[in-house]
Amino acid sequence: MYVDIVIVNAMLGKHYVIILAAGKGERMRSNEPKQFLILGKKPVIIHSLNAFYNYDKNSVISVVLPKNKINYWKLICKKYNFRLKHNIFTGGLTRYESVRNALNNLNIAHNDMVTIHDGVRPFISKKLIAKTFNSAFKKGHAAPFLNLKDSLRKFDKEKANTKSVNRTNFILIQTPQIFRGNIIKDAYKNEKSNKTDDISLIESNVQRVNLIKGEQTNLKITTNEDWILANRLIKN
Ligand code: CTP
Ligand code: MG
Repeated sequence: MYVDIVIVNAMLGKHYVIILAAGKGERMRSNEPKQFLILGKKPVIIHSLNAFYNYDKNSVISVVLPKNKINYWKLICKKYNFRLKHNIFTGGLTRYESVRNALNNLNIAHNDMVTIHDGVRPFISKKLIAKTFNSAFKKGHAAPFLNLKDSLRKFDKEKANTKSVNRTNFILIQTPQIFRGNIIKDAYKNEKSNKTDDISLIESNVQRVNLIKGEQTNLKITTNEDWILANRLIKN
């Protein structure tokens, strides 16, 4: 018998999903922030939202947006007939502030589960969400990682020189990053930070950060090259 049903509705706690889309996309240099660009038949952010809804139809979904894009987002929802129920929160100047704002506006209990995902990773698979969620449910938190494939060199700014380093000492971190309610709330209560992901905020509170194998296709659209790649990968 296979009993998962999102771990029997996360043992009766709620599952909050926070989709981050309040960035400016400066490295991408597109006319509008990359989260709103049309990939296949719909905006990037709608792909991300659908993925989490399809994994857990009972989850409480929130979107974090730039303050000046909220009306625009409502127009997009109309245009694309996007009816998935969701909260809308405004983001901050940094990713950390955007997450904090969402957490402060949600009534998260100790045993709820909180998923935080970059809205600009539209190719997130149901399989990777499930793997991350199941692991976080067991261990309190989880995040996906990738090994590096290319050779790695360290850049020394002062000497304007580079030096080889051992690739196996480094890994890449992706989202979704998933936490039990008390763990993520404590992390955001205790620290003010400019860290660019959430798992880094809890590392001082846990013995060992729980990482699981991510997926190469869980691409974060960051630069124009990523956008070209995304358009080759998209199916609908
Ligand atoms: N993000 C956010 N609030 C911010 C900054 C980032 O919600 N103040 C979100 C982005 O919208 C994105 C995710 O965090 O979904 C990952 O960030 P990144 O890829 O760096 O996006 P941007 O910050 O928009 O891009 P850039 O750093 O190139 O400006
Ligand atoms: Mg950024």
